[in-house]
Amino acid sequence: MIARWIRDSFDRRPWWMNAMMVFCAYMAVIYMPFDFLLKPVADDEEVWFGIIFHGWAAKLTEPLHWMIYALGAYGFWHMRPWMWPWAAVYVGQVALAMLVWNLVYVGGFWGWLAGFASAGVFAVLTRALWQRSELFTRPRLSMRERYGQWALITGASAGLGAVYARALAKDGVHCVLTARREDRLRVLAQELERTHGVQTRVVVADLTDPNGPETLLAAVRDLEIDILVNNAGFGYAGRFDKQETARLKEMVTVNCMVPIVLTSALVPDMRTRGRGAVIMLGSVAGSQPLPLHALYSATKVFDNYMGEALWAELRGSGVDVLTVQPGPTATEFAVVAGEEREPGEPPEDVVELSLARLGRQPSVISGWFNWVRAQGFRIAPRSVLTLAAHEVIAKQTPVEMR
Ligand SMILES: NC(=O)c1ccc[n+]([C@@H]2O[C@H](COP(=O)([O-])OP(=O)(O)OC[C@H]3O[C@@H](n4cnc5c(N)ncnc54)[C@H](OP(=O)(O)O)[C@@H]3O)[C@@H](O)[C@H]2O)c1
Repeated sequence: MIARWIRDSFDRRPWWMNAMMVFCAYMAVIYMPFDFLLKPVADDEEVWFGIIFHGWAAKLTEPLHWMIYALGAYGFWHMRPWMWPWAAVYVGQVALAMLVWNLVYVGGFWGWLAGFASAGVFAVLTRALWQRSELFTRPRLSMRERYGQWALITGASAGLGAVYARALAKDGVHCVLTARREDRLRVLAQELERTHGVQTRVVVADLTDPNGPETLLAAVRDLEIDILVNNAGFGYAGRFDKQETARLKEMVTVNCMVPIVLTSALVPDMRTRGRGAVIMLGSVAGSQPLPLHALYSATKVFDNYMGEALWAELRGSGVDVLTVQPGPTATEFAVVAGEEREPGEPPEDVVELSLARLGRQPSVISGWFNWVRAQGFRIAPRSVLTLAAHEVIAKQTPVEMR
């Protein structure tokens, strides 16, 4: 019973947040009371913003430190809404203090090194706390309550699309599943109906076909589509002059033209109804040029920009738009693209993160490392990063396509 209570209590947050909660509790219950009540004033020291205070100056500020740790322990334990953004702000301040402390009191090369290393650790924690705002909010409404009954998910026969369909069906949303592989779609449809009791409609469509999107739209004309997941897409690895022109044109059609046609057909009705959602599958590949994936990264810039711009246009209309920018994800993508790649992030993580962020922000990058990569182009010279990307992608590209 107690073991279960403890497990349930710790299940509410990720491990690193549990570690912060335990640390706050230790500071509030053991360390700070000892410091304040037992330590002689002459021995007292407190660090604020990286500067050490001694004696009474330290003693008098201890209750404030005590209160901060007590609030942290309490806030994490109950996952109180006010913890966001204040926990992130406080830890961000610690990151800065770490840098200042090392520069002022250690100094020289080792001061800089230790300062940046320790500040880096706290900066990562700050970002992690900032990103998990949804954990501190009240139980959210289901996707069906927020947006409506039917979702249209393109590319639902595999990878991220199938996971989106499962997640939406779990929230009570009926699903239109579309792709070319009918057998896969039918198996998924049965699973969703059986497991979640939702309705499904399978529409087999080849979206490289110039009439593909229109065929798809005709097949759902009798439904109110409240959620559109523009997910179907593929990559094509290789040197541009070795790639087949026809396949490149197909990529532009599926990755760019199809989201244009579907979004432009479905969003006006969502706007009229005053509610709806569009999820746009962009990519971190769209945050920089990728040699040997040149056209793919170009199509994903398109998706990223279109999605983020629509977020702004539709803001306040009741229609939420989220551009999702995953990095390498464990789907069939690499096989279809003809590249050799490491497994990547589980698609379930990408989908969970994106559904949690829908309605809160214009876009989301999945994974901290992908976030760091995406920022590279804002600060480092484009030529250097493009050449570095060439080296990385070359290792994943079959020799005959380099
Ligand atoms: N996996 C990654 O590393 C990654 C990273 C960033 C972004 N993304 C983006 O995430 C989205 C989903 O990719 P994924 O990783 O889930 O890849 P995936 O496992 O290969 O799934 C792609 C889906 O798109 C469908 N599709 C492809 N060509 C189609 C066509 N001509 N007509 C209709 N449907 C078509 C496929 O269905 P059929 O083959 O049955 O038609 C499949 O259901 C893509 O937009 C991709 O660019 C992926």
